[in-house]
Amino acid sequence: MPNFARWSDGLAPGHGRDARGILTIGGIAADTLAERFGTPALFIDLRVLDTALSGLIDAARPHAIGISYAGKALLLAGLVRFLDAYPIGIDVSSLGELATAERAGFAAKRLTLHGAGKTLTELDAALAGRVGRLVIDGIDELRALCARAHTGALDILLRLNTGIEAHTHAFVRTAGDESKFGLAPHELDAALALLRKTPVLRVRGVHAHIGSQIYDAAPFVANARALQEALSQVHESGFAQADTMVIGGGFGVAMRPGEAGALLDSAAVLNAVAAERDPGMHVEIEPGRALVAAAGTSLYRVLAIKRFDRRRYAIVDGSMADNPRPALYDAYHHVTAVRTSDAADMPTTVSGRSCENDRLADAMLPEDLRAGDMLALCTTGAYTYSMASNYNRFERPPVIALGTDGVHPWTRRETLDDVLGLDV
Ligand code: LLP
Repeated sequence: MPNFARWSDGLAPGHGRDARGILTIGGIAADTLAERFGTPALFIDLRVLDTALSGLIDAARPHAIGISYAGKALLLAGLVRFLDAYPIGIDVSSLGELATAERAGFAAKRLTLHGAGKTLTELDAALAGRVGRLVIDGIDELRALCARAHTGALDILLRLNTGIEAHTHAFVRTAGDESKFGLAPHELDAALALLRKTPVLRVRGVHAHIGSQIYDAAPFVANARALQEALSQVHESGFAQADTMVIGGGFGVAMRPGEAGALLDSAAVLNAVAAERDPGMHVEIEPGRALVAAAGTSLYRVLAIKRFDRRRYAIVDGSMADNPRPALYDAYHHVTAVRTSDAADMPTTVSGRSCENDRLADAMLPEDLRAGDMLALCTTGAYTYSMASNYNRFERPPVIALGTDGVHPWTRRETLDDVLGLDV
């Protein structure tokens, strides 16, 4: 029985081996999945997803900490329908994400609209009641919103640049000018003055997201402290209904065997954050990666092995188009060979087939790895499909959910007609 919460026996959450030694994903052998869906393909193990969701919901419950899923990590109608059953909201950052949630029937009041630069169309969507809340990201945006807010009422949060910058394992308090997000501290008074004149915009609280893939509790606590100070300022300057601070997402996940579980495995960070709030105030978090990353596995087929003097390459049938994270961020994704082998492992660069050196991963893989074998790239549930492109006019792979009640395709594989369909 695979472990759905953490890496075990060198395998990612939800992975196992069948009697033949073939990798199983969501309890199904990878060769069976490849036969049915082809490669490359992205599989989402719903038991791993449920374990992450339930773990976080349980850790948040004692403190009544609210949770919104950051849809930018992955948003598909099938996923939204799955999430609907959990006591969480969804953050959307564009009309596309909003429309996805709507198409899946997710209630508007559970949606929060984000965005570092919102279009007037997006502001109007919020004013029309298509979301429960809007997060204001800057003073110009607030001016535009005030000018358009004639009727109806809209709950808003003010995104602040608290100046807490997380650098994965350490954090520094900066002047905040390295980040484009939110209102600068000196703009808060001006924002509140505008809002005082626009009572249809109801200030519910403050927000600050400080970064992604953070493993320490300290920056979250520092952020919560800064937000509580700002919230008190807002509350005391006449906005009595402002009682919420959203400390963002960014909870790190385990990417390789032996790495400690997700930060959220321990409720410690939520305990520490909750301790920073004043009585009567609410805390919310908005994780993306921590909920969906571990549930995802990208399955590729090896097209060719190339041996050069200094390096062996395995060229797979995916590329930086379906997973741009290694090229963009030097991100690590663990590689698991689908077939076990008695051969010794050797250093291998797993590359895509794009027209540049799109290294997907450096891995230790069996010497007898050959064309036709399959490789799994682990922890690809977050920011992989959502950031995929059609570079080289490749078709985007399908996303398939693996549940206890069967297999549910969430997207089909793109066809060349899809890719060429916008050409006029
Ligand atoms: N809230 C806000 C306002 C955000 O901007 C983000 C992510 C989140 C929440 C969720 O953060 P998470 O819990 O997923 O770390 N493309 C990058 C990650 C960019 C994150 C952007 N904002 C990657 O592939 O690593």
